[in-house]
Amino acid sequence: MRKPIIAGNWKMNKTAAECRELITALAPKVKDATCDVVVCVPFTDIALAAELTKNTNIAVGAQNIAWADSGAFTGEISAAMLIEAGAEYVIIGHSERRQYFGETDESVNKRLTQALKNGLKPILCVGEMLAEREGGLTEKVCRTQVVGAFDKISASDAEKVVIAYEPVWAIGTGKTATDEQANETIGFIRSVVKELYGAKVADGMRIQYGGSMNAKNVAGLMAQSEIDGGLIGGASLKADDFSIIVGAAK
Ligand code: PGA
Repeated sequence: MRKPIIAGNWKMNKTAAECRELITALAPKVKDATCDVVVCVPFTDIALAAELTKNTNIAVGAQNIAWADSGAFTGEISAAMLIEAGAEYVIIGHSERRQYFGETDESVNKRLTQALKNGLKPILCVGEMLAEREGGLTEKVCRTQVVGAFDKISASDAEKVVIAYEPVWAIGTGKTATDEQANETIGFIRSVVKELYGAKVADGMRIQYGGSMNAKNVAGLMAQSEIDGGLIGGASLKADDFSIIVGAAK
């Protein structure tokens, strides 16, 4: 049995004061969750979020990680820095990084390798653009992204990865994939993991859906056999909405 995992992706939202407000409101609402609960916050909120979630069931994550240990990489944040600040998880290869910041399958692979080497728990994002879905390329794109991300990564490391399937056309648009579309593509991604690492790793791997997941559509998505949780953007910014989503992930 795979334990569901609900992760909030705050993106570039929430100052420290707002982070304090949100986590203070959220913690009591999700304390009885039976799934894993994560909030992936901006770098500047990590230390505060870690302090505020001490003695709670909420884990803290970052939204990116440098592939190098240290050095001349202006604007990047290292694994050691993330860990010292209190991050346990890290999102890698989010479509916004791929679209706006030149992230490629190769750089995603380097960041994933670095996260695993340092014991951070990666949430690896994959997903197709609208034109790719309409052109019948969804599986091809997802396969390329998964195979590229896991290049030279061992099975014992791969086991520690959570994948988030996020169709780009569903992110922040209010347009969700149907329950069946999400389930089918996640099943396909699991089959690619199986090709790479065998049935045991594939069956154990948690694969989330992401893209306009909210308090209203979570139940239908979570009822699908292949969907092990969600990566939640907009709806993770409100304690009430996010806690409803957490409560639905049993
Ligand atoms: P959304 O974002 O829930 O606002 O669509 C999801 C994500 O990008 O991780």
